[in-house]
Formats: sequence, structure tokens, C-alpha cells
Amino acid sequence: MSTSNPFGKKGWTPDRMKSQKGKTFVITGTTSGIGFETARILLSKDAKVVMLNRNPKKAADTIAALKQKLDEKIDVINITMDLGDQASVKKAAAEVLEKADRIDALICNGAIAQTPTRELTKEDWELQMGVNYFGHWTLQALLFPLIEKSKGRIVTVGSMGYDMGIKTIKFDDLNWEKDYTPNDAYSQSKLAQIMAVYELNNRLKAAGKTDIKAYACHPGSSRTSLIDTNGSFMMKVVFGLMKLTPLTQPADNGAYPELMCATEPGLDENAFYGPTGRSNWVGPVGPHEIKEHAKDKVVMKRLWNLSEKETGISWNL
Ligand SMILES: NC(=O)c1ccc[n+]([C@@H]2O[C@H](COP(=O)([O-])OP(=O)(O)OC[C@H]3O[C@@H](n4cnc5c(N)ncnc54)[C@H](OP(=O)(O)O)[C@@H]3O)[C@@H](O)[C@H]2O)c1
Repeated sequence: MSTSNPFGKKGWTPDRMKSQKGKTFVITGTTSGIGFETARILLSKDAKVVMLNRNPKKAADTIAALKQKLDEKIDVINITMDLGDQASVKKAAAEVLEKADRIDALICNGAIAQTPTRELTKEDWELQMGVNYFGHWTLQALLFPLIEKSKGRIVTVGSMGYDMGIKTIKFDDLNWEKDYTPNDAYSQSKLAQIMAVYELNNRLKAAGKTDIKAYACHPGSSRTSLIDTNGSFMMKVVFGLMKLTPLTQPADNGAYPELMCATEPGLDENAFYGPTGRSNWVGPVGPHEIKEHAKDKVVMKRLWNLSEKETGISWNL
């Protein structure tokens, strides 16, 4: 456990958040779990929230639930977006630019995990890589000009899973035509998301663009529907049992790292933020160790170039 948490013994909590009135947060995947809690807490602090969700009915139910919990007058809208479909991401990004005049933070939270058998997106990317990584890559790039204009942030929600797979990017078989396992593919997608943050920060620094920041965080092990949505029967049983133990925490605690990265001043863009307790699954939120493979400069650069080529989208950085 970390002994020197800059936020004290209890770590970062939303008590540190001032009023967010006048600020706009764009969040992916708010229909359940950590995304829902992130939206709820930001709205409770008077922020404007633009939610990006793939299922309009679930999104409408989410807005109704948030209004019931908070207030009818909360400032929240949903724009339909499927992270696994690049055309949908591009359309949603255009709609965000139309409807929001600023973005204080883009919180890249939505994801799927542990898809039991290999599936592909419309663009023929392995599903978890397509949804978690390439979906957010394109969204971030298209919203970048407004985030920059707003002196805002990009917050990427990674996972300790970054350290549980092959610990690099499988450039010779990115889409797992060989040796697919649900865990390795999820792990790669989360490692790629984290690496893109550190590479983006390097590029921002080199370009002298210091007004915009990107942060990598993760929610530890939180009781959400992540595994129920996509995982195999076996995975559902294992995580179902884990949820009964102190190895997991409630979804609102899981939201603290991304809330912190979206709002706390003076954070370190080279850090990795999440729970600092047992295995980094639970406990006070703060910065903690990240393994070297997540900051491998050669792999990070290669991944960036490959992402521009695969999506056809350049950041001009
Ligand atoms: N829970 C954990 O212990 C844990 C651990 C490590 C990392 N994480 C990370 O935490 C983040 C939040 O996950 P969670 O645990 O809160 O899971 P969750 O309850 O399953 O929430 C995931 C959200 O992502 C959305 N989503 C999934 N596929 C999408 C797509 N193609 N397009 C748009 N939205 C999509 C879901 O929407 P639908 O309702 O439409 O499915 C849902 O709103 C993820 O990035 C996850 O990798 C979680």
C-alpha cells in the first residue's frame, strides 16, 4: 500500500470537488456502473453532463433515474454513440461539437470486457480493441480542438488488466486471428488506452501545448455489470463470488479516480491513478506504480502511428 498519498490517509474523495457550475463533462458509457456514478456525482455538483451511450432507451432510463435521485433541473443530455462503430463515433462527435460550447473533460469510461469468443467490429478490429481503444481514439481526436480551446482534459479509464495479458501490443496479429483469449484481448485494449495517454502527453509537450492535459486512471475492482454484459458463464460466476468479498468495492468508489482526473488541479500527467490498497483493487485513491511496459516509448510511438493509419484520423501532433 502507498504510504504517501498526496490526498491524505483517506485518499481522494469527491469531498474535494468544488461546485462544477459552468463546466461541461462528456462521458462515455453512463448507463451503469462507474460511468453512472461519475455522471451522478458531477451533476450533484451542478456540472453539465453530455452522456454518450449506444442504447437510447437505456440512456433515457438513466436520465430519468438521475433526475429522480438528484433534481428534475439537472443539466444532462444523451447523444447516441456506439464505440464499436466508427461512423457512429464520428456522428456523435459532430453532434457534441454542435451542442457543447466547451469540454472541461472528456471521460473515456465506456467499455466491454472478457468477450468469450473472438468477435470483430464493422471495421474488422477485434471487438474489445475496437470498442475500448479505437472507439475512444477517434472520439478523442475529433473532440480535441474543443477540449484544447476549453483548456480541458482527456481522462482515460484503464484497468489493472493492463498488466495481466501479454504486456505489449500484438502488432503482428492485432486482431487475435491466432491465440485469442478473452483476457489477453481485453488486457491489450486497456494497455493500448493507457499507452495512448502517455504518448499523447509526450506529443502535447513537444508541440508546446501545455494547456490541455491527459490522465490515465483505473477504478480498481468495482461491483458493476462489466462482466455480466459480455463475460463467459465461468467469468460471471468467478466475478459474482468476488463481488461478495472485500476484494471489490462499490461502483461509486470506482468512480473516484476518473472524477479526480477530471476535476482535481495539479495532477501529474505521467502518473497512474487508482486505488492504492490491496493489489490496487480497493482502498484510498491516489497515484501508484505503473509497470515499465506501459511506458515503452517504442511501442507507444508505433501504436500511435498504427492508430492513425487504422482509423484514418490524424491529430496533427
Ligand atoms: N468494474 C471493474 O472492476 C473494472 C475494473 C477495471 C476497469 N474497469 C473499467 O471501468 C470502466 C467502466 O466499467 P464498469 O465496470 O462501470 O462497467 P459497466 O457497468 O458494464 O459499464 C460499461 C458502460 O460502457 C458502455 N458500453 C459498452 N459498450 C459500449 C459501446 N460499444 N458503445 C458505447 N458504450 C458502450 C455500457 O453501455 P450498455 O449499457 O449499452 O452496455 C455501460 O454504460 C470501463 O472502462 C472498464 O474497463 C472496470
